[in-house]
Amino acid sequence: MNGDLKLSNFDPFQKMELPEQDIINLYAKTLDCDLTIAQIAIEALKERKMNDQAILENLDFIKKNEKTFLAEVNEKNEPVILTTKDERADGLKALTRKIEITANGIFLIFSKKVKSDVLVGEGKSKIVTESLNLKTGQITAHTSQQIQEDKTDEKDVLNELKINETIGIHKNIATMLPESAKIRFSKKRNCKKGTFLMPYFNGGTLATAEEKNTLSPQDKKLIVDGIFQGIIYLHALNIIWRDAKPQNIFLEKNQDKIINAAISDFGLSCFIDDDEQKKYSVGSDDYMAPELYKAIYENQNDQETYYKASIEANTSAIDSWSLGVLFYELYKGKKPKWTKGTPKRIAKNLAAYTRDNDPEIKKLKDSQDPMDRVLYQLFDPDPKNRLTVGDAYQNLKKENYFLSS
Ligand SMILES: Nc1ncnc2c1ncn2[C@@H]1O[C@H](COP(=O)(O)OP(=O)(O)O)[C@@H](O)[C@H]1O
Ligand SMILES: [Mg+2]
Repeated sequence: MNGDLKLSNFDPFQKMELPEQDIINLYAKTLDCDLTIAQIAIEALKERKMNDQAILENLDFIKKNEKTFLAEVNEKNEPVILTTKDERADGLKALTRKIEITANGIFLIFSKKVKSDVLVGEGKSKIVTESLNLKTGQITAHTSQQIQEDKTDEKDVLNELKINETIGIHKNIATMLPESAKIRFSKKRNCKKGTFLMPYFNGGTLATAEEKNTLSPQDKKLIVDGIFQGIIYLHALNIIWRDAKPQNIFLEKNQDKIINAAISDFGLSCFIDDDEQKKYSVGSDDYMAPELYKAIYENQNDQETYYKASIEANTSAIDSWSLGVLFYELYKGKKPKWTKGTPKRIAKNLAAYTRDNDPEIKKLKDSQDPMDRVLYQLFDPDPKNRLTVGDAYQNLKKENYFLSS
């Protein structure tokens, strides 16, 4: 190793290729971490098209500034975020969007400019990109959501952050890393943004897996088991998820094998006693329960009665219904009949729905397959009689439905 190599002598604008071991040593020394972590992190950076020079620029920058950041963390007792600005070498602006230092590490948030596939996903409202924890070598996900009065209220973003915080850590729930939530002002877009970091799920979403048609019966059981445990935990915390759907189930893989499933996206979730959130009937069209459509369409001319009906309709039974649609899709390879069309059409279908007049649903009742019988009970149009998520899980367990581990 070249023992003389010092960051202070480093000229960021001079092109250079270092012997691999030198850069690993330098990295480990600068960030005070193991050589193995340094190696993993450097590999991850290189996979994302960062060359030695860019890596050194980042290290140099962090080293110069870390003390100030940490001092600020201690003083205000909150993480400090640094956006790429003039203090940074020009080359760096293109490579990373920002560096975020929290109690859990130093996170390099990649810019989409580096490589388009640092984009992990986009949902109704969030943009998710890859980031790297430089201290641990772990890839994390950085979630960002614009707050624009006409589209998203700051109140709703805060609600999601609060729900995330309440959930804490659970193996089957994908939530934010502690202390990573922030509301900040984006000069570029002239609006506020809510951002947080979360563990990265390398297996994509259940929606993608379903599209690719790659799930084995064992995979499905493992996923269903995980989803159940996640929702049961939420319900025990008096939270209604309100957005169960395959796009919001994240998968974790080891090599090519699915090893875990986690529920995610609590943007629509609410506490069971939070009438302020419950007065709106929300969800994703195909997964919304009949009572939600009823609240919306039967009270279109009077806001007060709509609020009242919504508050009544929003119970944990709406998660049972959505879960029914999700499992139906997973096992039958298609959505239930009533989901076809616009929200207005779905509302109409559901207003006329009974289990007996839908032959596909009716035949689930006496099926040999315990999952079919659970689906039948989840599709009860009456929320009061509908099977709870907890009972659905117990019913399946009683029949030894899940993989023994
Ligand atoms: N931690 C993560 N790991 C892997 N993929 C993620 C992660 N977070 C989000 N995604 C992807 O980004 C999409 C949007 O994220 P989501 O939280 O569902 O946002 P929205 O509230 O806008 O729907 C997801 O459907 C998924 O494809
Ligand atoms: Mg989503």
